[in-house]
Amino acid sequence: MYNSKIIGLGKYVPDNVVTNDDLSKMMDTSDAWIQERTGIKERRWIDKSTGDTSAVMGAKAAKIAIDRAGLTKDDIDFIVFATLSPDYYFPGCGVQIQDMLDMPTVGALDVRNQCSGFVYALSVADQFIKTGMYKNILVIGAEYHSNGLDKTTRGRGVTVIFGDGAGACVLSREEDSNKGILSTHLHSEGKYAEKLMVASPSIAHWVPEILESKNEDLSYFPYMDGTFVFKHAVIRFSEVIMEALEKNGLAQEDIDMLIPHQANLRIAQYIQKKFGLNDSQVFNNIMKYGNTTAASVIIALTEAWEEGEIKEGDIVVLAAFGSGFTWGSAIIRW
Ligand code: UT7
Repeated sequence: MYNSKIIGLGKYVPDNVVTNDDLSKMMDTSDAWIQERTGIKERRWIDKSTGDTSAVMGAKAAKIAIDRAGLTKDDIDFIVFATLSPDYYFPGCGVQIQDMLDMPTVGALDVRNQCSGFVYALSVADQFIKTGMYKNILVIGAEYHSNGLDKTTRGRGVTVIFGDGAGACVLSREEDSNKGILSTHLHSEGKYAEKLMVASPSIAHWVPEILESKNEDLSYFPYMDGTFVFKHAVIRFSEVIMEALEKNGLAQEDIDMLIPHQANLRIAQYIQKKFGLNDSQVFNNIMKYGNTTAASVIIALTEAWEEGEIKEGDIVVLAAFGSGFTWGSAIIRW
């Protein structure tokens, strides 16, 4: 059995900044409401003329990660791509990465676990490396939310939260069993699937039915019971972080850096307080990017590393919760 460790990180966010004031021109909202309830000041939304999509952004982040790993695309053995906003209904974005990066015909897998997508994807990649099946795996999280949101007052409870972006890492074989990913922990509770979802188009509710509804059918916009999701998020985040610590015989004070899924600054602050962490032990960038779902943890991890906030030997905890419900954590000795 091997361990796996992250040897290269990259991120890409669109240039187009959308501030809270910009949103208040589209719908009945305000900078004060959004900042107070979520901590978000601005987010990036793709300018369509750039040609960016989830796969395109993922490819840009992936190139940086591969380069920083000191590898070339020919060294990558497998691709895992996490997104809830794929370019196509099918196939998934992973195969587009294989093509866009002109990679050998390696396998590509898409993960559909929304906000927990990157943690799930990392866990999948970790298993392939542990067994010795692959040596270097590209793990990507990318989201193109902005083209699928209801940008009227009707959608304000959801739309103001979400942003576009991508992050990627190269996960590689590590011989030292005390280094790299120590463990991952994954959970789901499908009875709450409809608390945070995009219901259609689905195969049970296809495009002609939506068109026939003459705009009364809004099932293609994201729906979220925000308060319900919030309450579950704070509980599950705490549980899954604790589970990771206990599994490795570690205590709360051993955490050097917690990277929570950037869902809401209030959730992160609650967790920080609960675990008695100071500001330098929790990384947040939701203020700049909003909630980028499957991209959020890997964008935040990349930025924390770029800013020198993560040092060799640090205990880094990744944790996420979201639609499904699904949640998970990964604990890493950097
Ligand atoms: O990433 C996946 C996981 N997602 C999450 O973890 C998100 C969890 N939930 C949340 O972050 C919060 O529930 C929200 C930020 C989405 C909403 O905050 P809230 O404090 O739960 O607000 P609320 O939904 O209870 O709405 C309070 C009021 C309502 O008005 P009334 O009924 O009190 O008159 C809403 O209509 O705020 C209103 N409202 C807004 N007002 C201005 C909702 N959205 C907006 C808005 N601007 N954008």
